[in-house]
Amino acid sequence: MKHIYQFNNTDLYLGDCTEVLKDFSNNSIDLVFTSPPYADQRKNIYGGISPDKYIEWFLPISGELLRVLKPTGTFILNIKEKVENGERSIYVMELIIEMRKQGWLWTEEFIWHKKNSYPGKWPNRFRDAWERLLQFNKSKKFHMYQKEVMVPTGDWAKYRLKKLSETDKIRDNSKVKSGFGKNVSNWVERNMAYPTNVLHLATECNNKQHSAAFPESLPEWFIKLFTKEGDTVLDPFMGSGTTNIVAEKMNRNSIGIDIMPEYYNMVKGKLNQRKLLLCESNANRAGIIQPSN
Ligand SMILES: C[S@@+](CC[C@H](N)C(=O)[O-])C[C@H]1O[C@@H](n2cnc3c(N)ncnc32)[C@H](O)[C@@H]1O
Repeated sequence: MKHIYQFNNTDLYLGDCTEVLKDFSNNSIDLVFTSPPYADQRKNIYGGISPDKYIEWFLPISGELLRVLKPTGTFILNIKEKVENGERSIYVMELIIEMRKQGWLWTEEFIWHKKNSYPGKWPNRFRDAWERLLQFNKSKKFHMYQKEVMVPTGDWAKYRLKKLSETDKIRDNSKVKSGFGKNVSNWVERNMAYPTNVLHLATECNNKQHSAAFPESLPEWFIKLFTKEGDTVLDPFMGSGTTNIVAEKMNRNSIGIDIMPEYYNMVKGKLNQRKLLLCESNANRAGIIQPSN
């Protein structure tokens, strides 16, 4: 196996993930978090797969991911189809169907609402301000640390819980028979609530080193939700390494793979900087380096 670079608990590989993944052990990864090249996008940077070839290209990779993911693990896939000839392409929907046939459960879909998307005017649509994050699992029983992503209840509670109706005080089962129910009174005097499946996060324009970088808050939220310290996170299309850098800061083991030497070297550089920073702060703590002022 072409093992290229290791820092702390992070392993970086330079190569095609279709090949590199073949050397990984079965059931060894807790979370796969990734954004592959979208069909027909950024062709001039790292090649481009046409929508009609996308499934054929992606299925061998998702097959390997299915093999290396632990039964309790989760795969989060950030992907969005573009508009062509006035129509949204449907390859993502076809991909979901094929991945289900491959053995994946399509458990959930999260929406990343890009709070700061550019304004614009198009004749037949509005600006695109969201991306999807598809959640796939191997089994219905997967690890999910929901308390880690709780949010302040906020003003909703102040108004909604002020005056409770009789229905609010008992479990109110879903009228559409979804099996879900709620007892609103359970939330009185609680100041934290579970979030929704819509994440309102700004894109980060300060990451100029990769044209499609995630904001750090995106992998951070999913790493908190689906892993604990010491677990292993994999990004098979690591790009500028956002997933791996965040995982390293959160004391998770991580693996990143990219086919482009410049991205691989860039992430290596970032990890080297982290190494310097950590050495400096350890030395400061031990009194080896005196603060300059
Ligand atoms: C959308 S970008 C990922 C950006 C990343 N999430 C970030 O925050 O910077 C996709 C990456 O996949 C890489 N890539 C494309 N095909 C690949 C392959 N077969 N194996 C590994 N990496 C690949 C590209 O070089 C590119 O950096």
